[in-house]
Amino acid sequence: MELRRRPTDVSALLRRVAAEADVKDHPVEVVSGSVHADLDEAKGERIVENLLINGIRHTAPGTRLWVKAEEREGAVLIAVEDDGVGVPAELREVLFEPFQQGPMTHPHAPGSGIGLSLVARFADLHGGRAWVEEREGGGASFRVMLPDGRQASLGRSDSSAGSESPEPDRTRSSAAGD
Ligand SMILES: Nc1ncnc2c1ncn2[C@@H]1O[C@H](COP(=O)(O)OP(=O)(O)OP(=O)(O)O)[C@@H](O)[C@H]1O
Ligand SMILES: [Mg+2]
Repeated sequence: MELRRRPTDVSALLRRVAAEADVKDHPVEVVSGSVHADLDEAKGERIVENLLINGIRHTAPGTRLWVKAEEREGAVLIAVEDDGVGVPAELREVLFEPFQQGPMTHPHAPGSGIGLSLVARFADLHGGRAWVEEREGGGASFRVMLPDGRQASLGRSDSSAGSESPEPDRTRSSAAGD
C-alpha cells in the first residue's frame, strides 16, 4: 500500500471528521491547537473516523468523546478518548488484530472487527503506531503517533533518537507492553 504524504492541517481534519460523523447522542469535543504535518491525509481521515465511530458505537449513549491532536517532537499524536467503561487490559493489544472484538460489542451491532486493524496498519505505514490506554479519569484513550514527513527526513541522520521516536512494527502496532 502506498503512502501519499502532503502538508496536512490536522486540526481541520479532526473538525471535518467530527462534523461528518453521525454522533447521535454522544457529545463530541475537538481539542486541538494549530497542528500541521506531512501526512497521508486520506489515511489520517480513516484513522480518526474509525476511532470516532468506535467511540460512538461501543459506548453507552451520553458517553462523552474527545478528539485531540498535538504536535510532538517530529510527530503528531492523535487521541480519541471517551469516558465509557474502557478496554480491559488483557484486550488492549488483541483488539488491533483483524476480526477481534471485545465482549462489550453489542451482538447486533454492525461491524466485523477490522477498524482497529486498519488504524494500526495506517499508523505503521507512516512509521508510527497505534495503541489504547486507560483515559485519565476513566474510559478509553485510543492513540496514534504519526511521524511528520518533514521531521522524519531532517532527523534521519540522528541515530540517538529520543524515546518519542516510534518503532515501526510489521506485525502489530499496539503498545510495546513491558
Ligand atoms: N471506545 C471503545 N470503548 C470500548 N471498546 C471499544 C472501543 N473501541 C473499540 N472497542 C472494542 O474494540 C473492538 C474492535 O474494534 P474495531 O474497530 O476493530 O471493530 P468493530 O468496530 O467491531 O467493527 P468495524 O470497525 O469493522 O466496523 C470493538 O468491537 C469493541 O469491542
Ligand atoms: Mg470499528
